Amino acid sequence: MKNEVPKHIGIIMDGNGRWAKKRFLPRVMGHRAGAQALDKLLKDAEGLGVDYITVYAFSTENWKRTEEEVNGIMGLLREYINRYFNENESMSLRINSMGDLSALNEGLRNDIIRVKELSKERTGITLTIAINYGGRDEIRRATTQIAKDCLSGKISPENINDALISSYLDAPELPDPELIIRTSGEYRTSNFLLWEAAYSEYYFTDKLWPDFTVEDLKEAIAYYQTKDRRFGGRNEDKK
Ligand code: FPP
Repeated sequence: MKNEVPKHIGIIMDGNGRWAKKRFLPRVMGHRAGAQALDKLLKDAEGLGVDYITVYAFSTENWKRTEEEVNGIMGLLREYINRYFNENESMSLRINSMGDLSALNEGLRNDIIRVKELSKERTGITLTIAINYGGRDEIRRATTQIAKDCLSGKISPENINDALISSYLDAPELPDPELIIRTSGEYRTSNFLLWEAAYSEYYFTDKLWPDFTVEDLKEAIAYYQTKDRRFGGRNEDKK
């Protein structure tokens, strides 16, 4: 039997730099094209049955890039987040974030907090933007909080199980992603959703992110639907 359409899809939007290089453009122009591709995809994906899309916009490692590129990506994030804040555009989109916002510039941080609040009653796709996000960093921050809560007596070490750990992560209200897409022909997880993707299917495409369209998304979903998901069990044992 075919799998259902995945409720939650994670996307590693890779290849913006190569897209720009092929056109002799600065890297930031590649990121701008990438943001436009995402914007269009979110509109075109309405009605497909996907409820949650989580995108890797800026990793904890991306601070190593030049100041110009870091500022360029941050500026784009602010521009697009404010666009989603505007009631007239992408009305149905709910905005959420993952990652440690404390290192971001105050303006961007406040915009993210505001737009999360403003859009929380909306009923469309939930777009979770991973900013200053790393899977290890997320698990480390959760572990610190769990340790503090053990010390204060709020929880006891015997009660630490998978569900409790999940509840301390950045977006506990989201279901785990069934499908992760990575563009640009790279086959790595790059520290994206390490805990949450334990049973995810992965779909890789050579397309560079700015060229990715809803048709590619449909292909990825069709691939996912052919997969036999056993979660470590055996089909013969399925009840
Ligand atoms: C990876 O491509 C992409 C990024 C590090 C940034 C992605 C950010 C955006 C698309 C803007 C996000 C906008 C919104 C609205 C969420 P790369 O630079 O590593 O590409 P390369 O491997 O070809 O150099």
